[in-house]
Amino acid sequence: MQRLAGRVCLVTGTASGIGRAIAVRFAREGATVVCADRRSTPDGGGESTVDLVRREGGRAHEVLVDLADAAATAGLVDEVVAEHGRLDVLVNNAAISVGRPLLDTTVEQWDAVFAVNVTAVFLLTRSAVAHMLTREADEHGVRGRIVNVSSQHGMIGARGDAAYGTSKSAVVYLSRQVATDYGAAGIVCNGVAPGKILTGAGGREDDPVWQRHWRDRTPAPRLGVPDDVAHAALFLASDEARYVNGTNLMVDGGWTAS
Ligand SMILES: NC(=O)c1ccc[n+]([C@@H]2O[C@H](COP(=O)([O-])OP(=O)(O)OC[C@H]3O[C@@H](n4cnc5c(N)ncnc54)[C@H](O)[C@@H]3O)[C@@H](O)[C@H]2O)c1
Repeated sequence: MQRLAGRVCLVTGTASGIGRAIAVRFAREGATVVCADRRSTPDGGGESTVDLVRREGGRAHEVLVDLADAAATAGLVDEVVAEHGRLDVLVNNAAISVGRPLLDTTVEQWDAVFAVNVTAVFLLTRSAVAHMLTREADEHGVRGRIVNVSSQHGMIGARGDAAYGTSKSAVVYLSRQVATDYGAAGIVCNGVAPGKILTGAGGREDDPVWQRHWRDRTPAPRLGVPDDVAHAALFLASDEARYVNGTNLMVDGGWTAS
């Protein structure tokens, strides 16, 4: 049985990494996936996520959008509803980082991180909730589901990454806020908090110092892969998450447990 059959899901940040894995997994579960990113091509080149989904026989639709553009972001949910007639699931996944400690962070860098990691999440969530509240509730009383990809660094410090860690704390909080205010009306909003997930993006992933830090902090015998997070997002996006609202599911191999 496909767990998202007939559902329309908007996923941000789908060109690469975790968002790409979520889009592919959701499409395999029967969803029509609207893939929103500022680019099509994944890190390192190759087939776009939409082409990959379609090659597998799934349904995907690409929207090129810069989520730092508040006006474009604010209209995205309406565009999805106009095109597909509904929005069942929103996954706020796209994020950026500048990788700087507090004293080296400029206001411009802080604002750039918050524009994508927080303001875009706020704008998309606000318009998704407004749309979902117009729908009939299902047999579990649910009108729509939102999954916010946060981070272990929404819960614990992000070494040398002040704006990013602070932005992820805001995302963790926003899931609670939406569940608190709109849970009674059938909105289900949860977070998924990845630990270290290897996406093949290079940079810190190729740095032996960071590799040792992640290995030392992770009780699991391996670091994460994007599909680990996609499976958790699928659970929260599906009817299987029956009575789960406002939580932040750690998918961190035990990082924050130790
Ligand atoms: N990879 C990890 O170890 C890890 C750990 C904790 C949390 N996370 C979270 O998981 C999510 C995905 O991370 P990832 O590692 O796959 O990142 P990534 O950099 O591989 O992918 C992010 C995607 O977002 C898109 N994006 C960035 N800015 C955008 C903008 N302004 N407009 C439109 N699209 C934009 C990028 O093009 C990219 O496709 C993020 O929210 C991140 O904070 C990742």
